[in-house]
Amino acid sequence: MMQGRLITLEGGEGVGKSTNLRFIEHWLQQRRIEVTVTREPGGTLLAEKIRGLLLDFHDEPLAPQAELLLMFAARAQHLQQVILPALTRGTWVVCDRFTDASYAYQGGGRGLDMTAIAWLEQWVQDDLRPDLTLILDAPVAVGMQRAGRRGDFDRFENERLAFFERVRTAYLQRAAQSPARYRVIDAALPLDDVQQQIAEVLASLCQT
Ligand code: TMP
Repeated sequence: MMQGRLITLEGGEGVGKSTNLRFIEHWLQQRRIEVTVTREPGGTLLAEKIRGLLLDFHDEPLAPQAELLLMFAARAQHLQQVILPALTRGTWVVCDRFTDASYAYQGGGRGLDMTAIAWLEQWVQDDLRPDLTLILDAPVAVGMQRAGRRGDFDRFENERLAFFERVRTAYLQRAAQSPARYRVIDAALPLDDVQQQIAEVLASLCQT
């Protein structure tokens, strides 16, 4: 019996996920909701090692299928070690990226078959889906410019504009298909406005 809620935060590069993750954590804590903040790929010792494999550059190219399977390997570990125990204790989990990123990056970006991703999702997660997914959305050029200011690019950040356009489209399509679970937040607005939008969504989640 799950009592905690699972909130996931998604979006392309440079949309302000880290800042808004801290905002969500703080907002929930102020309302005395116990919360675990975590991230994917990663969130456990082993899953963080898989993250290293996924984000670093290697002497041989990583096959898109291998990339997808590593994402789900990390996710399976993270679910068993962190997410499921927290939800069972009644703790809310706020996760910086989750399976929607696999649909967006490996499905949209790399062009892998979405039905294969859906099969892995069902196998690894059973019926667990986020209660709420916030998609921080901004034009790709805006996000890339912000991400560029951070310095060194990882293996994903090194992709081309067209890749991120496909990622963005995939996120927006998923949101349009299941409006009950997703909220698209306009991340191109000033931070105060973004956080105002997020607070409204969190307040309505707390009422359900
Ligand atoms: P981060 O930069 O948000 O920490 O995420 C690391 C990268 O991993 C980011 O570029 C998106 C990518 N990613 C996927 O491609 N598929 C996934 O399933 C997840 C969780 C992340």
